[in-house]
Amino acid sequence: MPDPVTLTVNGTDHTFTLPRETPLIYILRNDLALNGPKFGCGLGECGACTVLLDGVAARSCVVTLGSAEGRAVTTLEGLGTPEAPHPVQVAFIAEQAAQCGYCLNGMIMATTSFLMRHPAPTEAEARDALRYNLCRCGTHVEILRAVMRAAQEMGGAPDQGAAETDLAP
Ligand code: FES
Ligand code: FES
Repeated sequence: MPDPVTLTVNGTDHTFTLPRETPLIYILRNDLALNGPKFGCGLGECGACTVLLDGVAARSCVVTLGSAEGRAVTTLEGLGTPEAPHPVQVAFIAEQAAQCGYCLNGMIMATTSFLMRHPAPTEAEARDALRYNLCRCGTHVEILRAVMRAAQEMGGAPDQGAAETDLAP
């Protein structure tokens, strides 16, 4: 039997006796019923499964249980609540930045990680930060507006007007 591995998920410690190479997304979705991380490519390429690992965006389909040992995992469920959503969630709702929504949770987690380190980004920096989070519906314009809105409302973005000009087709 594998040695037990403990990690903290959304502030609560959990111990698993599973192979260390088990993808983190399987544990989050199947063992903890946290469906925030979505399974897209399973190859680390689309970003749908993004979570925070010690506060940094990570793709939970390629993070293993063993590599997450002792670390803090945050899923969308740990970001905000329906009563008190995170400012990034509020901004995505305000900008109606979704169509099917499959990419959305990963976008929100990646945006949260990005704004923690770049609280006053330019639109070009935001675009660059999310370039590997794929949206098959083509909602990128609204998503970028949501990122800039979140930055502004969290106290950082330099100029929303300039960003909207940059985003014009
Ligand atoms: S499902 Fe993890 S990056 Fe696509
Ligand atoms: S809104 Fe459908 S994949 Fe992004």
